[in-house]
Amino acid sequence: MKTAVYPGSFDPITNGHLDVIKRAAKLFDKVIVAVIRNPGKTHNFSLADRLEMLKQTVANFKKVEVGSFEGLLVDYAKSKKASSIIRGLRAVSDFDYEFQMALTNRKMAPGIETIFFMTDYKYSYLSSSFVKQIAALGGSVVGMVPSPVARRLKKGVK
Ligand code: PNS
Repeated sequence: MKTAVYPGSFDPITNGHLDVIKRAAKLFDKVIVAVIRNPGKTHNFSLADRLEMLKQTVANFKKVEVGSFEGLLVDYAKSKKASSIIRGLRAVSDFDYEFQMALTNRKMAPGIETIFFMTDYKYSYLSSSFVKQIAALGGSVVGMVPSPVARRLKKGVK
């Protein structure tokens, strides 16, 4: 049973994240999408909202579970018996942070491998921040986010 954890803020999930989830589910028996609970940065959406949008988005994906964690990611991954951590890479600008995080996690947990998925070019421009900005300013987010997120964004970004 090969399990991977895909951690993140998911504030909110975008179609770029969704693409990574779908591709990871082809390689693993189980993918746990793990929303961080106690981040260093503030989020626009509450944990409950972020979880709800994720659960609705992956409701029909048999291999995908949604969870949340606080504390060290590697401890959460171990508690779930995950062999891998999944992260998405969009551009070179993501690389420094991701490289540092992967090496730090490997130092703490050498048995857990970080695996990067290159974004599909269709989603390489996408970010949760821009999606929220567009929605807050009345623009269209069609094609950028899954429909549960688009519905939630219509109620306002908070
Ligand atoms: O979507 P994000 O905000 O880029 O996700 C960052 C996240 C949640 C993966 C990262 O902040 C994290 O793993 N936090 C948990 C704390 C931790 O394990 N820190 C040590 C490794 S850097």
